[in-house]
Amino acid sequence: PHRHAVFGHPISHSLSPAIHRSFAREFGLDLRYDAIDAPAETFAAQLAEFRAQGGGGANVTLPLKSLAFGLCAQVSDYAARTGVVNTLEPLPGGGWRGHNTDGPGLIADLVERQRQDLRERDLLLLGAGGAAQGVAFALLDAGVRSLTIANRHAERADALADRIGEPGRVHVRYWDDLATQGSWDFIINATSAGVEGGSMDLPFAIVAPRALCYDLSYGRGATQFLAWARTAHAVHVFDGLGMLVEQAAEAFAIWHGRRPDTEAIYAELRARLD
Ligand code: ATR
Repeated sequence: PHRHAVFGHPISHSLSPAIHRSFAREFGLDLRYDAIDAPAETFAAQLAEFRAQGGGGANVTLPLKSLAFGLCAQVSDYAARTGVVNTLEPLPGGGWRGHNTDGPGLIADLVERQRQDLRERDLLLLGAGGAAQGVAFALLDAGVRSLTIANRHAERADALADRIGEPGRVHVRYWDDLATQGSWDFIINATSAGVEGGSMDLPFAIVAPRALCYDLSYGRGATQFLAWARTAHAVHVFDGLGMLVEQAAEAFAIWHGRRPDTEAIYAELRARLD
């Protein structure tokens, strides 16, 4: 069988094995896909062992995406811009080529599945960690008019803005000042607050009319951020399940040369989470 895995910590609740098994069924591929719990300290050794035992392409999630970038012999142009890798493609002579399919996956979900027009939107990106880094460049490529980054620790927002290097279009705001800095018609939650059980204090005043709010995370029922967005009268409200399925499809295409249809597994997982 083709052997794949996702590495992360924690990893036990990962939906990636179910998604990739569903894709494999679509093409009649004999595929094994495991979830491997890997703390940062032992990730490199675990990845090497996976490869030595015949492992092929791998996915990488929290908190390993920057580490994975550093382990790659080559990276795609998009991954090079972001500095974070979520998909590892085995190179024939050994070593890995790193990709980041989170950005393309988010755009595929927003534009193709949810039929949203991102051009001319003013985007507020909450968070500046690995998840934010992975999607910021794709959102700029997709044509948002401006990107404002706010992070609890401001220096990380500055670092991401510097990495992007488009001072005319990319701005940084202090998290605690958001209430007085205007409003946005596109807000993305790229923090891990929900995942880690933390809470965020966000003013309703930042939500402009006709707003689109997107949470990169997902869970059973509405996430805390999406519940907040609904209360603030955002018109379009989506969680990150669609992005999860689309980034997986992009990874599958890198490994197997064919992009699977995502509708069936998306509907199945949506029903499971609702
Ligand atoms: P990820 O890969 O999910 O981005 P990360 O790199 O650890 O993980 O980044 C976590 C992000 O969530 C950061 O932007 C973090 O803010 P800080 O850099 O200030 O720590 C943000 N975050 C986590 N918990 C939060 C909370 N309760 N409120 C606001 N931001 C939070």
